[in-house]
Amino acid sequence: MLPTKFPRHLWPLSLHFFQKRLFLGEHDLTDLARRLGAPLYLYDLATLDHAISAYRHGLRGWPGPSLIAYASKAWLSLPLAQLLARRGLGFDVVSVGELEIAQRGGADPRLIHIHGNNKSPGLLARAADAGVGGIVVDNLHELTLLEKMQPPAPLSLWLRLNPDQSPDTHAYRQTGHYGSKFGLSWEEAQIAARRIAQAPHLQLTGLHAHIGSQFFDLKPLFRAIDRLAALAAWVQGQGLGEVRYFSPGGGLGVPYHPDDPAPRLVEAVRGLSEYAARAWQERVGGPYPTLALEPGRSLIARAGLALYTVGAMRHLTTGQRIIAVDGGMSDNLRPALYGARYTAALAHAPLAPTAGPARIVGPLCESGDFLIDSIDLPKAHPGDVLVVPSSGAYHLSMASNYNGMLRPAVWLHARGKLIPMQRRETVADLLRRDFPLPPQ
Ligand code: LLP
Repeated sequence: MLPTKFPRHLWPLSLHFFQKRLFLGEHDLTDLARRLGAPLYLYDLATLDHAISAYRHGLRGWPGPSLIAYASKAWLSLPLAQLLARRGLGFDVVSVGELEIAQRGGADPRLIHIHGNNKSPGLLARAADAGVGGIVVDNLHELTLLEKMQPPAPLSLWLRLNPDQSPDTHAYRQTGHYGSKFGLSWEEAQIAARRIAQAPHLQLTGLHAHIGSQFFDLKPLFRAIDRLAALAAWVQGQGLGEVRYFSPGGGLGVPYHPDDPAPRLVEAVRGLSEYAARAWQERVGGPYPTLALEPGRSLIARAGLALYTVGAMRHLTTGQRIIAVDGGMSDNLRPALYGARYTAALAHAPLAPTAGPARIVGPLCESGDFLIDSIDLPKAHPGDVLVVPSSGAYHLSMASNYNGMLRPAVWLHARGKLIPMQRRETVADLLRRDFPLPPQ
């Protein structure tokens, strides 16, 4: 049983309280961090499956076929790619690295599409070789590269429209306004569609927009959908292609902090699907294409936990309480980069009375190296385990070796068992690419 004041919705579904301590399934989190080492990342499969099924249910608001293409940038690894491929998901990838991991995980290449605002000729050739379901044309330069290719089979292209919409999120996460580097303006999209129609080895098969990430008010997304539908009507009206994939991108927000909005995922996806269906019916008509959604965070964030060990503690002369843990901006850059706010709990005493506000910092040589600017926490001691929920998206994928930090081990909690996903890095990993100088 979890006490009501605990922000349950931020934590994985398999999280339990037992004897007033935090457990993931049957596993005491303090013991796990001590046994497996910290920092440690845990993913809960039940939570991931729950989010996938929320997407599947919500997508019933769209009368045609649909595709959930996981935005690999949120975090990709071989075992995660396998899990998602086995569940029939597609993948949105942006690099040879993501493409290859998705393929090695068993992804059907036809369910992979590739993004990026500066795809190299090599990357385009690799995507063509793989037979991906869509190369998403981001700009006219890229189209010129595609025109010069001589693929054995015609390439399926999607156009990424910049719909000039700004969702309410951090400026770094807005991608769909005219000041952004991403996507084609309306006029460029029309030019691109005409040029594709002239090239026998290119086919226009999809339309796409992605306006940003971590937003809750869906109105800008609905306006983007209207513009995409208008473009679909124009493309088909001109006979320039058949829009078989209709993709309004990803971006649905998730709560990280008890004060954040906490919409029900299934309802957000249903609202989005129903809106898209109406827009298609009103502006385009005819058979429904595949609605391709590209969720990253809303699929995986809640499934992930980050576990740290408490080390140095200080009371500054300013009165501030500082708690230093063994991970920081090297495994979670989000507080430093976006001012992202998190919550946390002590694994052995999550509900002990607070000893006042504390700042949670990491061990790196930066004053920007903090995980939580201010949180009410009980009295902590060196060796205690601090757990940060909502850690599944954009932590490990943006992790670095700054200060020679070793990236954490990752384990999966699946049906009561713990399965390794990634081992902790070693110093040998840090040295793997280095050439020693010849002897003097
Ligand atoms: N599709 C495209 C084309 C994208 O660029 C992204 C995210 C997504 C889908 C997935 O968005 P999601 O559903 O995960 O919100 N590092 C930032 C997020 C950057 C997102 C980049 N693009 C963060 O930690 O908040």
